[in-house]
Amino acid sequence: MIRFCLNGQWVEESDIDPNWTILRYLRTNKRQLAAKEGCAGGDCGACSILVGDLNPEGQFEYQAINGCIALLGSLHGKYVVTVEGLKEAEQLHPVQQAMVDKHGSQCGFCTPGIVSALTALHFNRSQQSATKVSDHDIHVALSGNLCRCTGYRSIMDAAHAMFEYPAPSEHAVINQASVVQFDPAAMKQGVQPSLESQGRHLYVPQSESELQELLASYPDAKIWAGGTDLGLEITQQFKQFDRIISLHQIASLKVVTQSQKEIRLGAMVTYSESEAVLAKSFPSFVQLIERIGSRQIRNLGTLGGNVANGSPIGDTPPVFFALNAKLVLASKQGEREIAIQDFYHGYKQTDLKSGEYLKAIVLPKLTPEQSLYIYKISKRKDDDISAVLMACVIEHNGKTITAARVACGGMAATPCHAVKTEQALMGKPFALSSFEKASDCIAQDFSPIKDVRATKEYRLTVAKNLVIKTGLECLGGQ
Ligand SMILES: Cc1cc2nc3c(=O)[nH]c(=O)nc-3n(C[C@H](O)[C@H](O)[C@H](O)COP(=O)(O)OP(=O)(O)OC[C@H]3O[C@@H](n4cnc5c(N)ncnc54)[C@H](O)[C@@H]3O)c2cc1C
Ligand code: FES
Ligand code: FES
Repeated sequence: MIRFCLNGQWVEESDIDPNWTILRYLRTNKRQLAAKEGCAGGDCGACSILVGDLNPEGQFEYQAINGCIALLGSLHGKYVVTVEGLKEAEQLHPVQQAMVDKHGSQCGFCTPGIVSALTALHFNRSQQSATKVSDHDIHVALSGNLCRCTGYRSIMDAAHAMFEYPAPSEHAVINQASVVQFDPAAMKQGVQPSLESQGRHLYVPQSESELQELLASYPDAKIWAGGTDLGLEITQQFKQFDRIISLHQIASLKVVTQSQKEIRLGAMVTYSESEAVLAKSFPSFVQLIERIGSRQIRNLGTLGGNVANGSPIGDTPPVFFALNAKLVLASKQGEREIAIQDFYHGYKQTDLKSGEYLKAIVLPKLTPEQSLYIYKISKRKDDDISAVLMACVIEHNGKTITAARVACGGMAATPCHAVKTEQALMGKPFALSSFEKASDCIAQDFSPIKDVRATKEYRLTVAKNLVIKTGLECLGGQ
């Protein structure tokens, strides 16, 4: 059985197909029809709902997520609010009232999703006693919401106006007298979380030892992290998984530790959570993370999922290559560490053995002589997959390039180093001409494919130019 709170009411479910998404459940079983299915792939935001939980600092917060790709089973122990739960008696929530007054809705298809995304912003900023938000804050909050008819100006006006209305009572999105106080321990008490229907199972282990036992018993079970890759296999490729193991309740997989030399990130740290952790040591990495998917995707998607998925166009693996990251893999047999460059064996093939999972990613911090440069080339700024991603760590002493690590995504069947380019930079004078010469090696390092995102020639030209751009930025930053 799983237990969660939906718009102020306790809900317990056990006999539901583990492959059901939250959106399917809300619309089919609860007849809550405000959240819509547009793309069923995390792109349009029409399905956005609010999920409340404690953040890593122990404060309660709401996040907007895509209900179309998140599994119902991932709600165990959480507090869910849909726009049906926002209104108190006849009083609209400030975000809803602002949308009405500023004419933020025409056909209304996108509106519940937009209201959910803005309500997360309103709630979390109200907790910090904020009374206004910037255009940038609104753009980030709405980066996963498409509106095809209203035009965004009136939606922006509504977002700016939302703090002008009376706030709901403290700590509540839904202001009803019946609202239950969030108490994750009470919600989970006495429940061994799982779903089972027609021979299909979903397990929600509470610890790594439980996870290891489950993986030893069911090595073919699908490990489910944020579901932003896997969810699409259900909704767009119509796959059905017989056994799913959700990692969302394992606290040790969310742990972040730091020493003077390295940062260790639990595999279940989401993109949104990683932003604050990485800000000081790797600001250019945070700028990349802000361009991964949308706010809704970053609230669900994990760093571990991006690495374990093994896609050649995942954005973070090239960065981890450039940083010389190590991966901690674990199973019932124990733990082992592996350099990320040894992790990928071929297209979507990794070194993970049966019963093994990714536990953590260890990032060595940069020395004062090193700098990290990251370039994501895609057709749109927000919510788009890279045609090419390049990450470079350049080390120099002002005269000579003493180390160079250049890694790319989108250029081969796996993320990988540009070995010849790196060799061409090593030990060369710290001058633009060295980067220009080294950039000629890109064509020897890679033979990329042509696909819907880019031609082979485009990818090669872009990557070559990015080596020169790295040189320009590196020299400019002296
Ligand atoms: C709309 C949209 C936009 C996107 N934009 C981007 C983008 O800009 N850049 C980008 O790189 N990606 C993007 N993605 C892809 C996706 O968000 C990322 O790859 C994400 O990091 C996957 O993480 P997850 O936690 O959701 O993984 P899941 O979907 O849960 O899992 C992905 C795979 O990894 C395995 N896995 C997950 N965690 C573990 C673990 N700890 N141990 C072993 N195996 C594990 C799963 O079994 C599965 O095979 C986008 C996806 C969507 C839907
Ligand atoms: S339906 Fe489009 S993001 Fe969910
Ligand atoms: S109001 Fe019609 S799509 Fe936004």
